[in-house]
Formats: sequence, structure tokens, C-alpha cells
Amino acid sequence: MIIKSVNLETVCGITSKIPDNQLSEFAFAGKSNVGKSSLINALMNRKSYARTSSQPGKTQTINFYNINDEVYLVDLPGYGYAKVSQSEKEKWGWMIESYLKKSKVLRQVFLLVDIRHEPGANDKQMYEWIVHNGYRPIIIATKADKIKRSQLQKQLKLIREGLGLEKSDVMIPFSAETKQGREEIWEYLEGADQP
Ligand code: GTP
Ligand code: MG
Repeated sequence: MIIKSVNLETVCGITSKIPDNQLSEFAFAGKSNVGKSSLINALMNRKSYARTSSQPGKTQTINFYNINDEVYLVDLPGYGYAKVSQSEKEKWGWMIESYLKKSKVLRQVFLLVDIRHEPGANDKQMYEWIVHNGYRPIIIATKADKIKRSQLQKQLKLIREGLGLEKSDVMIPFSAETKQGREEIWEYLEGADQP
């Protein structure tokens, strides 16, 4: 897709109502610091429109980016960030879950995991939540520039087994540095059914 305009249209905090959008939504979930906002910037061809940080816990709201008045990319708050209280963690979990349940135009959920690490218990829980809500997530293995090419297959297998993926589940290695995987992700965004 040729990016003509990007607009952070809605920011949802804990007390906000999920917007009743008409355009298709594509959501990006994953642990804090895994690279959700960086991926969204890469998809939008913007350097830093979505705020990123080397400190985990940067995105604490649900952010809806309107692309060309055609689709929304939805940046979800990162989970698994150790430095927040239990009640804060529960709030984020509640926000993500209520979004998955309430959105009528969510077409696809992407679950991001760091290509270097075996998925954790919270990644697995997120995968199961997504499936439980009726979606088949596409897995994005982020920060692919951080491993050697020779390690790629081994890491992908580790993630596949760690999350308990099914054979048909799609997994895409991605790097915000080299933009590896960007085109493939866009193909999934453009190929999805319209609402
Ligand atoms: P939260 O908003 O805290 O949930 O984090 P996030 O998932 O949005 O992560 P963010 O995009 O802010 O990236 C976290 C850090 O990882 C930043 O320092 C990024 O520059 C870095 N990063 C993200 N993607 C990549 C990548 O593909 N390669 C490399 N080398 N670094 C990356
Ligand atoms: Mg973020």
C-alpha cells in the first residue's frame, strides 16, 4: 500500500470507550519492548510517529493509527513489564481483552515475540487469549537483525514449540532495522476481508 496519510486518531486509556470504527482494524500485541511501535512505524514508513523507547512500558494506551482512511493499525499496550504493580497489570490485561471482545472490525491480530528468546508464560497466555476470542494470530518474530542467518530456523522452531503453534499458523521474521518482513506483513493487511 502506498502510504498517503497517517493519523493517530484515537488513544484509549483504561476508562475510555473502544471506538466504534468502520474501517478494518489490525492489532499488534506483545510483551513490552518487543517492538510493536517500531513495527507500526515501519509499516507506516515513519521514523518515529508511534513513540518508541528502549525502556519497556512506553505504550500504555490502545492507539489507533488511521492509514489513508483505509485501515487502522492498533498498537496495544505491552504486557509483562515487571516494574508496574499487579493492579496496573490487571488493568492492561482487561483493556486488551475488552478490545478483543468489543471490536467489530478487528480483522487480524499479530502477536509479536522476540526472535532471540523462547516465549514466556505471558506470551503463551496472550496467544491463547487471542485464539479464545476467535482469532488466529499471525506470529511476528521481531528483531531478526539481532541473530545470525544461520540461527534463524532454530529460533523459529523454538518459538513455534514454545507457543504451541499449529502447523497452519503463520510466522514472519521481521526487523525494524532492515525492514525484513515488512512487505509480507502488508500483504496480510491488504488481503484481509473488508468489514
Ligand atoms: P512498549 O510500548 O513498551 O510495549 O514497547 P514496544 O513493543 O512498542 O517496543 P518499541 O517499538 O518501543 O521498541 C523497544 C526497543 O526495541 C527500542 O529501543 C527499539 O529501537 C528496539 N527495536 C524494536 N524493533 C527492533 C528491531 O527490529 N531491531 C532492533 N535491533 N531493535 C529494535
Ligand atoms: Mg510501544
